[in-house]
Amino acid sequence: MVSIALTGIGELVTNDPGAGGGPLGLIERAAVVLDAGRVAWVGPASAAPDADQRIDVAGRAVLPGFVDAHAHLVFAGDRAAEFAARMAGTRYAAGGIATTVAATRAATDEELLAGAGRLVTEMLRQGSTTVEIKSGYGLTVRDEARSLAVAATLTPETTFLGAHVVPPELADDPAAYLDLVRGPMLAACAPHARWVDAFCDRGAFDADAARAVLTAGMAAGLLPRLHANQLGPGPGVQLAAELGAVSADHCTHLTGDDIAALRDAGVVATLLPGAEFSTRSPYPDARALLDAGVTVALATDCNPGSSYTSSMPFCVALAVREMRMTPAEAVRAATAGGAASLRRTDVGVLAPGARADLVVLEAPSYLHLAYRPGVPIAHALEL
Ligand code: NIG
Ligand code: FE
Repeated sequence: MVSIALTGIGELVTNDPGAGGGPLGLIERAAVVLDAGRVAWVGPASAAPDADQRIDVAGRAVLPGFVDAHAHLVFAGDRAAEFAARMAGTRYAAGGIATTVAATRAATDEELLAGAGRLVTEMLRQGSTTVEIKSGYGLTVRDEARSLAVAATLTPETTFLGAHVVPPELADDPAAYLDLVRGPMLAACAPHARWVDAFCDRGAFDADAARAVLTAGMAAGLLPRLHANQLGPGPGVQLAAELGAVSADHCTHLTGDDIAALRDAGVVATLLPGAEFSTRSPYPDARALLDAGVTVALATDCNPGSSYTSSMPFCVALAVREMRMTPAEAVRAATAGGAASLRRTDVGVLAPGARADLVVLEAPSYLHLAYRPGVPIAHALEL
């Protein structure tokens, strides 16, 4: 394998505090040397070592690949009509998930893989080089297990979300569904999953049910993360802190105590502004989280119901415009924050030993990600 020197980088975001240049570890007029799929060297172009091949990016900005730590990509069909109704005034509710469950159960494995693969490609074209993928639209042992088997062909970051909602056929016996999820469904899914998740919210699962699922998943060797406090205030974030979840996701409706619990337990707050955009809901208070010292990640929540975007640059722009994050905070949350949300140290950073996952911008600075919303300036470097 040949080593490659990327030169002519106008502005390099390293996220490496050791590199100087503030929280983003910015280096101007930089170079990066890549070797065998890893970063071998980072620094000023004037000091770059020799490499087998050189690529001059002519003053463009370069960042670590985006880490999209929350996506629901294994599904069939879409819910465009539900979106249109919402824009006309209908409120978003967890119950819409059942529409996608019916379509997903009716799809073949090949159709599910083609759909999820198309979205992963879409993400890569917009700079996401690490993507988490959840199950949660199958809700039978067979359909959850095959959803995760599909996800595992696309990413190592797979999440068992059998506890998404109670499926229609068990609507009058949620306890039976809970037993299924933490029993045979978990047993069938755990071999394909790294994470266990539950939707702890109005219309989905209460704290006791979510706790039962997460503790069973942890006993099976999975790492815990939780959909928490999306649709209203509730116990999800406190539960995430109690269980030592790696991430609490959404965090749209938080009290001061919730924020303190996240901080004290070291739980990452993974914010999903695409969901607030697409459900016309109030955005999470990112400033309060950041000012309290909570680690914040940004992710797309890509799914056919509440957030059908695959674009991390769009989420960065929303975070800056609607959540009052600085462009630097938003870019860090979309890269290093996502890595923290997935407990990864090999992505979200450009330093020797990290994966050679890079985004090249059609722009001289990371600032353009928020400054040029909706413009396709970010591309993953495909070598
Ligand atoms: O993260 N909150 C739960 N699940 C998804 C939405 C799923 C759907 O509406 O299909 C979310 O927003
Ligand atoms: Fe989600």
